[in-house]
Amino acid sequence: MQDIKIDYTNIMAPAIGKANGLIEENFTALSFRADKIHDDLVSRRKSGDKPFYDLPYKIKEAKELIKAASTIKKNFSNMVVLGIGGSALGTTAMLTALGRPMHNFVSSRKRGGVRLFVADNIDPDEFGALLSTLKLKDTVFNVVSKSGSTAETMSQFMIVLDLLKNKLGRGWKKHLILTTDAKEGILREIADTYRLKTFVVPDGVGGRFTAFTPVCLLPAASAGIDILGMLKGAARMDERCRTGDLRKNPAYLFASIHYLQDTLKGKKMTVMMPYSYRLKDVADWFRQLWAESLGKARDIDGNPVHAGQTPIKALGATDQHSQVQLYVEGPFDKLFCLLEVESFKTEMPIPEPFEDQPGISYLGGQSLNRLIAVEKDGTEYALTTNNRPNMTIKLPEVSAHTLGQLLYMLEVATAFAGGLYRVDAFDQPGVEFGKQYAYAMMGRAGYEKKKAEYESGKSKKRLVV
Ligand code: PA5
Repeated sequence: MQDIKIDYTNIMAPAIGKANGLIEENFTALSFRADKIHDDLVSRRKSGDKPFYDLPYKIKEAKELIKAASTIKKNFSNMVVLGIGGSALGTTAMLTALGRPMHNFVSSRKRGGVRLFVADNIDPDEFGALLSTLKLKDTVFNVVSKSGSTAETMSQFMIVLDLLKNKLGRGWKKHLILTTDAKEGILREIADTYRLKTFVVPDGVGGRFTAFTPVCLLPAASAGIDILGMLKGAARMDERCRTGDLRKNPAYLFASIHYLQDTLKGKKMTVMMPYSYRLKDVADWFRQLWAESLGKARDIDGNPVHAGQTPIKALGATDQHSQVQLYVEGPFDKLFCLLEVESFKTEMPIPEPFEDQPGISYLGGQSLNRLIAVEKDGTEYALTTNNRPNMTIKLPEVSAHTLGQLLYMLEVATAFAGGLYRVDAFDQPGVEFGKQYAYAMMGRAGYEKKKAEYESGKSKKRLVV
């Protein structure tokens, strides 16, 4: 089993110059603080305060999920996850990375599991179309909400419940699986009242750190994804992340590069650009993790900081024809993290039908594999020669083992970056505001005062052309 690697040559001054590049002394200057943050995280882990760290070792629980998934696979051909944010993005990332390409379109034998749909949006056209397209009797709905009250997910749940009862009558219950808190929340109450099948979001694991919990692992296993392999990969990364040495711990290195580039070199944005379609939704998952964890108004002492780096997702080679012009020549405000896959599952040779057309004949006899590798090198070269800090995370291949490593590394990096920025990486007051606003304006009892407050705070006169 191979490890993922980080090549950070082009973050440093010798590659891109002093104005944008870091020097060794920058890391050295950080190491005293890094040691303290490391010690703090280690002791919080030991005390059980940060349970996400130990999720890779929940093998017994994972085997139970695999058992549940095999029953799901026997009874249903479709699973729809109703969830949003941390209750959805990890599942999508796993499906895109480890499901069969075109997963939902191939035969069940090739898929090795259910068709999986993650309904993380409440656009009525889209959601309505999904519900009317799937055969209800072949579909199980996994309602995922840690709080058990998120307006988007609960609305979807109510629509689905009504549909199931109307269309399927008495058998409706077996089409619902709820993943929520063990004890608290409305969804838990409903599950208990109606005796619905449930799985638990472990205590103390916030939405965006739930990749290795039933939130993502149940749908992933139901789609035929090797969840034990992912946990093994995550555990391998955990081993590598046990050291407090910034240059040896991949997660700490990743976080330090981001922090130093932000605070010393003004890189207020970070672009994650996989050169692998399978990894495109990892960039989306990371966007939430980095943004929601580090984008904070106040530091841990309550002082205003307005910290956070804006994460951007891009996709190679697609965005070479869209974003790279800006990245290479625009403002010096971005850091780049390219994801490179050394070996693809498919070898796709390019035929040679146009030998008399020198403008394209050179491509014949080569392969898409070589072309995407060259394109990644080209972007790296262009960024570097234009003095744009860039690093590459190299995955030997996209597999359960490497994906587990990557997701776990990014989670640990986020926790460590919280320490560097001195913010609470595990809360999300800004997200809670959106939730409160929806509750108030949609008329939830107990939110009457909030509704009046929000209404009075709105500008009365709209400027509209
Ligand atoms: O990371 C988070 O905490 C959020 O993105 C939540 O996952 C999201 O708001 C959904 O919350 P819940 O799972 O409570 O429905």
